[in-house]
Amino acid sequence: MSKSKPWGGRFSQPTDAFMESFSASIHYDSRLFRQDIQGSMTHCRMLARQGIIAESEADLIVEGLARVKVEIEEGRLPFRDDQEDIHMHVEDRLRELIGPVAGKLHTARSRNDQVATDLRLWLREEVDAIREALRSLQRILLTLAETHVETVMPGFTHLQNAQPVSFGHHLMAYFEMFDRDRQRFGEARKRINQLPLGSAALAGTPFPIDRAWVAKELGFEGICRNSLDAVSDRDFVIETAAACSLVMMHLSRFSEELILWSSPAFGFVELSDAFATGSSIMPQKKNPDAPELVRGKSGRVTGHLMGLLTMMKGLPLAYNRDMQEDKEAIFDIIETVRGCLKVFAGMLAEIRVHQKAMAAAAKVGFTTATDLADYLVRQGIPFRKAHEVSGRLVRLCVESGRTLEQLSLAEMQAADPRIGADVVEVLTVTASINARKVVGGTAFATVRAAIEAARSQVV
Ligand code: ARG
Repeated sequence: MSKSKPWGGRFSQPTDAFMESFSASIHYDSRLFRQDIQGSMTHCRMLARQGIIAESEADLIVEGLARVKVEIEEGRLPFRDDQEDIHMHVEDRLRELIGPVAGKLHTARSRNDQVATDLRLWLREEVDAIREALRSLQRILLTLAETHVETVMPGFTHLQNAQPVSFGHHLMAYFEMFDRDRQRFGEARKRINQLPLGSAALAGTPFPIDRAWVAKELGFEGICRNSLDAVSDRDFVIETAAACSLVMMHLSRFSEELILWSSPAFGFVELSDAFATGSSIMPQKKNPDAPELVRGKSGRVTGHLMGLLTMMKGLPLAYNRDMQEDKEAIFDIIETVRGCLKVFAGMLAEIRVHQKAMAAAAKVGFTTATDLADYLVRQGIPFRKAHEVSGRLVRLCVESGRTLEQLSLAEMQAADPRIGADVVEVLTVTASINARKVVGGTAFATVRAAIEAARSQVV
């Protein structure tokens, strides 16, 4: 038999048994219990400060809430569908512990502003944890990049060998992506960190509450200015979900590269045994499961983002029960992103880089053909013409099974007499890389300077 509901006064029939479990969110929103109790304690103290309830009543309530918190922490409070959500569980247990005075806690508030407050408090902490995890990952990238400034690899476009680059430069590209991600979370945090409490159900409250004091106590930077908006906005959830989807998109691209690079066809890197798995049938296999799972999970996070946007797009103001559906999505998103960042940090810290294989591949595919064209430009030939000459020499190499460096000077001069003996100096991988000293380029010295400058961003 279900307990009576806090809203039971208006009802003459009990809730349908299936409806009760259908409606319950306690099996996932119980994770908000700390934030719920913290918010309630502060709300209660404020009510007493404002003379809305007595100090002695507030003392009883706050002490009782502290006991409920310990009970939940120790797993001693049974969760039940008939109590729907975490807010009702806490209040119901409080009433059992301290009696009817517990009923005064809900003065001047509603579950609508309460749940929005809880979620903002929770998300604020999680966003900070993600920012920290991103920073750790950036530090690992920086260390790896520093070791591999002079490790050369082919840079790709269309996954075709394009121009040689420093592996450190390639890694620093991800550093930049994760840096923007971290900034995005920093921006989102400002909008998360606004207090909805005090908006009550939708219109505000007639009681003389002090929202500014509550905001300060709970560490909010400001107060939601419109009560209708405060209880019905979930864009802080969606914005965070979008920032998470971008992190996952970046991690997924990185995963894709690690999967390719660890394939024997590339052989650029090897994942440590701790982050790979074997095959149950093929004894030789070492599979890149960690990056594959991260790549796979990116779809899940993006899916939740679409779910949240779709859930919200048709809702009239203000609160609608649809919005309870925000929680499983954002909880899963955050857990997934945190897990992926953690596995990536571990995996990258232990990755083995096969410099020789990378260096050998850097030469494959006439990756210095652009350097040959640039050389001709320096002899006064227009770039379009230089491109054509270099292209013809590449064709000669393809037909005769040679590299550009293996062509004789006579063969080159047959293509254009302005080619001199000094052309050999521009055709090597290292020369190609070090010619690109432009800001943001791949020259070793430039990459080293970029790494040095980046260090201050992650201290
Ligand atoms: N469990 C609800 C949610 O997550 C709390 C707010 C319920 N408010 C209401 N009027 N039914 O959205």
